[in-house]
Amino acid sequence: MAKLLLLALLVTGLGLLLNSTDKSAKLVPVKDKVELGKLLFFDKQLSLDSSISCASCHIPEFAFSDTTALSKGVGGKLGLRNAPSVMNVKFRDRFFYDGRAKNIEDQVHFPVEDPLEMNLAFDEAVKRIASDPIYMEAFKRLYGEAPNRVNVANAIAEFERSLESSNTPYDDFMNEKPSTFSESAKRGMDVFLSDKAKCFDCHFSPDFTGDEFKNIGLYNGLDWNDPGRFKITGDSADLGKFKVPGLRNVGVTGPYMHNGRFKTLMEVIDYYDTPDKFVPNAINRDSTLSKPLNLTTQEKTDLLNFLLSLTDKSLKQR
Ligand code: HEC
Ligand code: HEC
Repeated sequence: MAKLLLLALLVTGLGLLLNSTDKSAKLVPVKDKVELGKLLFFDKQLSLDSSISCASCHIPEFAFSDTTALSKGVGGKLGLRNAPSVMNVKFRDRFFYDGRAKNIEDQVHFPVEDPLEMNLAFDEAVKRIASDPIYMEAFKRLYGEAPNRVNVANAIAEFERSLESSNTPYDDFMNEKPSTFSESAKRGMDVFLSDKAKCFDCHFSPDFTGDEFKNIGLYNGLDWNDPGRFKITGDSADLGKFKVPGLRNVGVTGPYMHNGRFKTLMEVIDYYDTPDKFVPNAINRDSTLSKPLNLTTQEKTDLLNFLLSLTDKSLKQR
């Protein structure tokens, strides 16, 4: 009897170990590059004092975004921008709000080395990874070589590229499948596409971004003082321009904008309706937003319901 009980305990214990995402508990070999990247994404060794991982700021339940305006890095240091979703990044050709990274691989070393984020030299991170027999075995098998700057970045990028989402009420409706896309969301889609609201001028393509840099009026050089794209190009025409974010899962990724200053989607909609009320003296604001949109209360609610219909069904609406 006692032996049976012991056996049962061992079996459940083993089951737990096998299901765990914790690398130290890994008994089966890492399956592929995506799974390897996932282990790295959740691995706190990539930060100076091993206190945070990529997933600390890019939380899976919130479409891999953070729930606070600004995220805390190593030692509780506050960052400068809002942590966006890392889902639906496969087709992006620029990364970060100012576009300083050209592709996903190039993006990876920035958070690791950023003194306000993980604060660890990327070579040191690679050394830590290489000193771990589980990683060493996996890299040798999947890449034919030991971990290095290039393959570590590639593994994390492969994981990020796997995070595509299109299982939403909106997609069901577009594919003529039964869906919960409401009448209000349908009207909201028309508002989104209309000349009145002009959302589609900037938020187009299947992920609702044209991957361009635009100034929507969130820069006045005073209390709104992140110059955005200008920091990278030094071109005054780029002052206050930010990468147009995709809008998939936007229902769970608040707070919003590069600085997380808008808490809710309704606040975002109110902003577009009357930008001057929120940010007076904006510098260089895009001409599409030069006049108030004059949206009705109904149009605003419909627009909100449309945006909410872009949430993947695997995520809980907040
Ligand atoms: C301390 C919080 C924090 C940690 C840790 C962190 N990030 Fe981020 N991440 C951010 C912030 C903030 C931004 C936006 C920065 C900007 O645009 O200048 C960002 C932006 C990104 C983007 C750009 C998304 C886009 O659409 O342009 C990707 C991809 C990303 N992070 C992946 C990662 C990966 C991979 C790791 C781990 C190696 C990581 N992050 C660790 C806070 C964090
Ligand atoms: C001129 C281009 C432009 C137009 C028009 C535009 N947007 Fe945006 N949108 C942007 C840019 C750029 C950002 C990012 C700004 C920032 O972070 O500072 C943004 C951010 C957002 C965000 C926040 C996303 C996030 O993850 O923080 C939402 C939601 C949004 N827009 C919805 C809309 C809606 C709805 C409309 C129409 C009423 C619209 N946009 C019109 C360019 C535009």
